[in-house]
Formats: sequence, structure tokens, C-alpha cells
Amino acid sequence: MGDKEVDMIQMKGSKNNVVLIGFMGCGKTTIGTKLAFLLKQECLDTDKLLEKKCGKSVSSIFAEEGEEVFRQMETELLQELIQRKRKGVFSLGGGTPVRPENRALLKELGGVVYLRIRPETVYERLKGDVTRPLLRCENPLERIKQLIKEREEAYCSCADVIVDVDEMPMDDIIDEIVFGLRKSGR
Ligand code: S3P
Repeated sequence: MGDKEVDMIQMKGSKNNVVLIGFMGCGKTTIGTKLAFLLKQECLDTDKLLEKKCGKSVSSIFAEEGEEVFRQMETELLQELIQRKRKGVFSLGGGTPVRPENRALLKELGGVVYLRIRPETVYERLKGDVTRPLLRCENPLERIKQLIKEREEAYCSCADVIVDVDEMPMDDIIDEIVFGLRKSGR
């Protein structure tokens, strides 16, 4: 049996959840779905859970209630998810780790993986996307650069594993996550 398979089997046996963080467009949901499939677990996307709870899209929550209300909902959702008994892979909204209290909650929730991405890659991936209210502006690339710069420290400070995803194929990203979490003891 190869080292990768051994790592994957040990991940399946671990008590921890996997928590994916990173900027918009880094692939949290796509990677989370594949990883959860391999681990035979559920993938939970916090944006989707909040949309279901509120009965409206993230864009509508931002437009009608404002960003602060959305951020408070994210914190409350993390508190609920910590109580959950079943293990899973969690894909978080890109801004969740910005609140210090959320970073503490993330660490409690499971092994935290930061999927790091360059601003130019985000821009290319999300050109034309209309679902991210924070990027609906005149100069999205500048906004992406600014937000990543502001958030980088928050992302790094709560990550157990950091994977640079820009040019990396999906299977390699998954291998790095599994190997990294095992090495970190999470
Ligand atoms: C946000 C990221 C979005 C969503 C909301 C705010 C952010 O999630 O939570 O639009 O502040 O970076 P994704 O990272 O899944 O796009």
C-alpha cells in the first residue's frame, strides 16, 4: 500500500473534521466535495447552509441586511456546527476567518486547511461572477489584491496546513491536505 493510501485511511479514522478556508474562488467547495467523497463523509458549505436558513442568497443578505449581519450569522453557524456529532468536511465563506472569535471556533471545529491563491488567479476564475457582493465593483482585481493582503495574516494564523493551489491539479491538492493534516497531528 502506498503512503498516500495509508494517509487517507488514517484520515478516515481520525476524530477530526476538515475545515477548508481561503479566499473566494480558491476551490473550497469543489475540493471539499471531492475530499468528502473520498473520506465517505458529508461536505457542508457554510454559505449554502446560511442561504437555506435565511431563504435567500448571500447577495440578498448583504444587500438587504448588510455585511455585519451576515458576519454575525457566520459566527452563530460555527457555534452550531461545533455541536454536531457527525464528522464532515466544512467549506467556509472566504471572509469567515477575519473575525478573531471565528478563528478560535474554526480551530475547535477541526483541522484547518488554508487553500492559498494568488489574486490574479482569483480574478481569472471569477471574471463575470455575479454571486460575490464584495467583488461587484469597478476594479475587482484591485479589490481582490487588497482583501487578500488584509486577510492573509488571519488565514495563516489559524491554519494547520497551507496549500498553494494556483497551478496544482485537484488530486495533488487533496494529497497535500491529507498528508499535511496527518503530519500536523490534526
Ligand atoms: C465572502 C466570500 C463568499 C461569501 C460572501 C463573502 C468573503 O464565500 O461568504 O460573499 O468575504 O470573502 P466564498 O469564499 O465561498 O465565495
